[in-house]
Amino acid sequence: MDEIKEGFYPRYLAAKKGIDDRALNRQVWETLRQALPQSTGRGPATILEIGAGIGTMLERIVDWGVLTGPATYLLTDSARDHLRAARRHIAEWAGHQGYDLVWQGEESGLLRTASVEVSLVFEAASAEELAGRADTYGPFHLLIAHAVLDLIDFPAVLPRLLTRLEVKGLAYLTCNFDGDTVFLPEYHGDEEREIISRYHASMEARVSGASHTGSRLVTFLHDLRMEILVAGRSDWAVHPQNSVYPMDEAFFLNAIIDTVEQELTHNSGPAPSALAAWAKTRRWQVEAGELSFLARHLDLLARSPTPLS
Ligand SMILES: C[S@@+](CC[C@H](N)C(=O)[O-])C[C@H]1O[C@@H](n2cnc3c(N)ncnc32)[C@H](O)[C@@H]1O
Repeated sequence: MDEIKEGFYPRYLAAKKGIDDRALNRQVWETLRQALPQSTGRGPATILEIGAGIGTMLERIVDWGVLTGPATYLLTDSARDHLRAARRHIAEWAGHQGYDLVWQGEESGLLRTASVEVSLVFEAASAEELAGRADTYGPFHLLIAHAVLDLIDFPAVLPRLLTRLEVKGLAYLTCNFDGDTVFLPEYHGDEEREIISRYHASMEARVSGASHTGSRLVTFLHDLRMEILVAGRSDWAVHPQNSVYPMDEAFFLNAIIDTVEQELTHNSGPAPSALAAWAKTRRWQVEAGELSFLARHLDLLARSPTPLS
């Protein structure tokens, strides 16, 4: 793997942070902020995140005041490289915010802010591995899965992960793709409709139901007897301002166009004949500061009523 490719995904996740910050549903977030201290009582909050990437959700949990006391935060991801990038990213963020961060070996650290102390633990493990593990990790007050459940067969994994929650433990499941991808301005002709529909089909080919993860989670959690405290839209919306994209959002847009092109070229039968021209036009619009992009997502906060077994 060359250097550019190695840095590609962490850069994409860093660029995505600001877009997710705007998108996250504030009512769902506020309910989490109020419910977490109630579910932890006096003890430290214990948090498990799956698919944690470079650690941007940890940053929000700390910066946006969800924690009111000590906590342990277990960051897991199937990609060891992402967790290595997470260490670097979190160190930069802590320095920037003036937080005190002391590493205790490769896989743990202690973060102190003016108001909270968080033990960080990093573990390269897939959600499937964690779900299948017989050891006694947990129980957790909070399970976080952000922008990851549409990548995995969640019906096979979530029930077992949710058994690791404390009674009244919370599941904060966010940025779940929910069936709509829109590029603007409108593309002339029908080609884009086919491209987007083939793109959604390629998600389905990888994980059945993935293109409607948000809606499926509603019924799924209900059937599991999880109490859905709140749910709400968290759509991505990327627009230029005076023909310029904020932060690294032009990179993010190009990454989305690349992903659509690669999916349809390599993973979904013969590529549509209009694909290359479509990608070229959309990249040109990014360059010119003319492209807008929307993707529909759903956030959910659910609570485990009694021990799930
Ligand atoms: C779209 S990224 C989101 C990362 C992070 N939550 C964020 O929003 O910045 C998806 C993450 O899930 C991880 N991932 C993919 N499949 C996984 C699995 N089966 N178990 C755990 N993590 C997985 C990827 O390595 C990647 O870091």
